[in-house]
Amino acid sequence: MKIFHKDGIDTIIIDSDIDTQDGFDRLKTFIKEGKSYKIEFLSNITLQQGVVLYLAEIVQNPKYNIKIAIKHPFLSSYFHKLSIKHEKLSSLLTHKKISHELFDVILLSGSAGSYEYIMYILQNLPINKATIVIVQHIGEGSKHLHEIIEIKTPYKATYINDGMVVMPKIVYIAPPNYQSIVEDGVFRLKKMGNVNFAEPSITVTMNSLASHYRDKFCAVLLCGYGADGTTSLKEVTDYGSKVVTIEPSLCHDSYMIVKHAIETGHVSFIFNPNELINYLKERVISEQKEEKIVKEFLDKLYEQYGYDFRDYQIQSLIRRINTCMDKVGIGDYEGFFDEVLNNKSTFTKLFFELSINVTQFIRQPNSYEYLKEHVLPYLNNYSHLKMWCAGVASGEEAYSLATLLDSKKMLEKSIIYATDFNPYILQIAKNGLYPKKQIDDVTLSSIEEINHFKSLFSFLGEIAIVDKKLQKNVHFFTHNLTTDSSIGEFQLIICKNVLIYFNEKLQKKVLRLFYDSLSLDGYLVLGQSETIVDFETKKLFKLISSEAKIYQRA
Ligand SMILES: C[S@@+](CC[C@H](N)C(=O)[O-])C[C@H]1O[C@@H](n2cnc3c(N)ncnc32)[C@H](O)[C@@H]1O
Repeated sequence: MKIFHKDGIDTIIIDSDIDTQDGFDRLKTFIKEGKSYKIEFLSNITLQQGVVLYLAEIVQNPKYNIKIAIKHPFLSSYFHKLSIKHEKLSSLLTHKKISHELFDVILLSGSAGSYEYIMYILQNLPINKATIVIVQHIGEGSKHLHEIIEIKTPYKATYINDGMVVMPKIVYIAPPNYQSIVEDGVFRLKKMGNVNFAEPSITVTMNSLASHYRDKFCAVLLCGYGADGTTSLKEVTDYGSKVVTIEPSLCHDSYMIVKHAIETGHVSFIFNPNELINYLKERVISEQKEEKIVKEFLDKLYEQYGYDFRDYQIQSLIRRINTCMDKVGIGDYEGFFDEVLNNKSTFTKLFFELSINVTQFIRQPNSYEYLKEHVLPYLNNYSHLKMWCAGVASGEEAYSLATLLDSKKMLEKSIIYATDFNPYILQIAKNGLYPKKQIDDVTLSSIEEINHFKSLFSFLGEIAIVDKKLQKNVHFFTHNLTTDSSIGEFQLIICKNVLIYFNEKLQKKVLRLFYDSLSLDGYLVLGQSETIVDFETKKLFKLISSEAKIYQRA
């Protein structure tokens, strides 16, 4: 770290992703009591323990006047968990929202004569990601329209209830005697009386959907009497939404809605039913199309960054990708994938979203209980023990195991390899700093055990610091279960809540890797909702406890 004009400094900007943080010693030498400093972290620097503790201390020490500002959400959430005061810097480069012609919500609306077209559309438009909302004046399908839709079309359908979350791939029907609107992604039923002589009114729902979904919303006006749905088309199209309709002649007597709509000059297209289906088909993402696009992207992601997500559970990946797209502010796959492949920092954001780091101390206590009572006494016969926590996230699992070994006086002869494919989360694991509350919340079967557990931490305000004794025997390093090979021969492997994210093929491959990495009588611990399902793989392991999800090499 180079420091220029040392005497005049009041803002320190740190914008690097360095491994060794020796420069921070110099930071300490010139930060003086009584003077004001602002330290801004611009990049996702993975700060080491000493630096984090130093910052935690000076920021709350009244002798100093230090402000910390952080741009990257990962570092900011780490500091937040450790109760280290800081402000969040907003990103200077906000992504331009790329407009696209894909609809998230389609409204099918009309009154008399619209029923047959609604059914025709639902029967011919393949299931896709869009939400479909139906507002119809006359319930020609009566109270059972949702059932008829489920029988005659591939869609799931429901009448709207107040507070229902708007979900993709579902057909929602506006119920009579209410006005249906959307607020913050949730349906609301309002008692507003008739609007345009109608309850439900097409106009009310259409305006609400247009203001909420803008260019991702398409209103389809079908046959009906009157002018409901046509009175605010200018506002609807001003939001960027599309309005399309069918030819008036297709509606026989009930052509009024369509005619009025066309006369406003705000209808983009007038279709026959087949043209309408084709138009919508091109502007929604079918499940198959979505999987195909995402799989092609995963190939490129692997080529570009070496991370192989191709055999992860595809639907869960798609959900995570969509969450990341929302956070980054890019609405279409093409634009987002392009950004990820060309911009490392967007890739990192996606990587964090895909590597789900949720964990805690003594997670699933019954498996620790079983280890303590049945497995460790057996392993104690060894003079040296090697254990592996795979997919360890921020380290709690490995330290939990170390506390257990310590309680059995087996820690000294044990070495724990703790691995994850996310190098950023591993730095947090190495730091061994956790919110004190996490330690307070631990459940163990006796007070003595809880006291022993707590005795392996020291506390600095709200921060719990893992005892050096535990850290000495736990070695953290990156290892990718999809691409790296076996790393030794272990008496115990713990891999909890990782396999659930993999498809069957990858689970099989990783379980084979564990088999090859176990000593002849070695044990494997999986997560609560994980089981070995593949017939051939089952032969590699004996189930020791189905409750604790503990297996032994067969
Ligand atoms: C939900 S956490 C589980 C943490 C801990 N085992 C537990 O049960 O509390 C899943 C972890 O698996 C890691 N992971 C996902 N794919 C991986 C891979 N291919 N290789 C290694 N680690 C992976 C993630 O980074 C994440 O930290």
